[in-house]
Amino acid sequence: MYSVETFDLTKKFKDVTAVNKINIKIKQGEVFGLLGPNGAGKTTLISMLCTLLQPTEGTATVNGFDIIKERDKVRKSIGVVFQDPSLDNRLTALENLYLHAGLYDVPKNERKKRINEVLELVSLKDKANILIKNYSGGMKRRLEIARGLIHYPKILFLDEPTLGLDPQTREHIWDYIKNLADRENITVIITTHYMEEADELCDRVAIIDNGEIKVLDKPSKLKDKLKGDTIIIETNASHDILSKIKSIQNVKSVQLIDGKTYISVENAEKNVVKILQTVKNVKSLSIRKPTLGDVFIHYTGKEFRDETSNGNINKRFLAKRL
Ligand SMILES: Nc1ncnc2c1ncn2[C@@H]1O[C@H](COP(=O)(O)OP(=O)(O)O)[C@@H](O)[C@H]1O
Ligand SMILES: [Mg+2]
Repeated sequence: MYSVETFDLTKKFKDVTAVNKINIKIKQGEVFGLLGPNGAGKTTLISMLCTLLQPTEGTATVNGFDIIKERDKVRKSIGVVFQDPSLDNRLTALENLYLHAGLYDVPKNERKKRINEVLELVSLKDKANILIKNYSGGMKRRLEIARGLIHYPKILFLDEPTLGLDPQTREHIWDYIKNLADRENITVIITTHYMEEADELCDRVAIIDNGEIKVLDKPSKLKDKLKGDTIIIETNASHDILSKIKSIQNVKSVQLIDGKTYISVENAEKNVVKILQTVKNVKSLSIRKPTLGDVFIHYTGKEFRDETSNGNINKRFLAKRL
């Protein structure tokens, strides 16, 4: 049995098709990423799987339960952390967790034990008696993850769990999610528009755009499938040299951005010498294998802007597009 299986799952909002006939199968214990830009349909897709939205067409099973006919069973078997924080600011972390345990019918004599376990998992045990209004953004997100686990769900849905957090806190949250997936063997379904996050965390990712799955595989497989490398050299290149490089056999494209020349080739190791013979005064050289960002551009034809990345990464994406 799959953790999640969808059958032509579709959601339309008037004239917008937010999710368009999606068919995916997610295995028990997988960390599965839905990667796509804003408006791709990620939240709509997982909202349907969590039974918060009714599909327009198609259906899905979650833990074997139908999302239309067995909504209560689906809800009891999943944990959800959505984009908008939903903790009660006037309560302490502990009070929030007791409240949630009650809502999910966790047996009274087990509540204390489970709350301790989940607090331990996200390293908030010593902050249990602090009011939520005094929590930082990262602590709140960790507490929400803990809360989503109190009733021992088999699947945890996380919608952009690191959105708006600073890079250091984001990496901490990644560690907690990894740790969780390893220790608890639960299925984690995570949406993100951060490339590195998907690459680092996910066993498999689906690239979603305009409500459709463009490609689905392991991050390493996706990168391997994109043949070719990018050679990046820093030189006093003129447009003259660029056209010379372009005429070298096996060079697919050349682009000059901010004093760096980005050369897309079939096989960098084999072609780099020929290229260096053409270019003088090389100040630096690096060779880059395809990134998940390149994969995204390849399958969607769009540049992927990650606002937390530095400018260089965006420029690399740009370079690859030419
Ligand atoms: N309640 C809604 N009413 C109308 N359109 C919506 C609604 N929710 C989402 N959409 C539209 O559906 C598309 C997908 O949105 P969403 O699932 O939120 O994308 P993502 O989470 O990937 O950013 C967008 O075009 C969005 O404007
Ligand atoms: Mg969203």
